[in-house]
Amino acid sequence: MTVKRSRIKTLKIDGRDIGAHEDETILEVARENGIYIPSLCQLDGLSLVGSCRLCLVEVENWDKLLPACATYVEEGMVVNTNSDRVRKYRRMILELLFAEGNHVCAVCVSNGNCELQDLAQWLGMDHVRYPHLDPVRKVDMTHERFVIDANRCILCSRCVRVCSEIEGANTWDVFGRGINSRIISDFDTSWGESKTCSSCGKCVNVCPTGAIVEKGKASGEMIKRTEFLPYLTKMREVQA
Ligand code: FES
Repeated sequence: MTVKRSRIKTLKIDGRDIGAHEDETILEVARENGIYIPSLCQLDGLSLVGSCRLCLVEVENWDKLLPACATYVEEGMVVNTNSDRVRKYRRMILELLFAEGNHVCAVCVSNGNCELQDLAQWLGMDHVRYPHLDPVRKVDMTHERFVIDANRCILCSRCVRVCSEIEGANTWDVFGRGINSRIISDFDTSWGESKTCSSCGKCVNVCPTGAIVEKGKASGEMIKRTEFLPYLTKMREVQA
């Protein structure tokens, strides 16, 4: 049996010389080497979409910042994950996410267990410089066990991907464009009427905020568990 090995590339991240496999992204390599790059849409076990842009990094000889989760390593790459420019845009993106939805942590069921909140704390984001849009969006409580609150959704599409790629139900999708984009179930019917949802709860657990939660939870009570995802992915690789 021939074991296919990917070639090793050498690159520099934050001044450190690092060896990586050619099929690895900057984000993966950084994590393996204890270098933290924030991320939201990326989740191990799901496909890459590079939509949240929280993981932007500076790569020498590139004018624009690149998403670390969707950029593969190259020989001789010089990456900076924490320059003034990176920090400036990272903070701006996070503030825009907060301004665009209704993220009132004090009354959220995911308060204390929210990846968006964690990032705001990590970045020291104590205020938002942009006008809040204060959208009035639908809260769908028609499912027997779960709730989806579009006001808290950051459109990371983890729910869409886990439902399609892991559960195979294809219940969720992104509907509309730009500021009018929203997550829908089936053909924009209410979740409780969905013919495809298997009520597995995977979307609930991968949602990084309080947008998809279990019913009956009070403020701060919703705890998400994503451990199942790397396990299921690994088992599929083993069986393939
Ligand atoms: Fe890279 Fe979202 S984590 S774009």
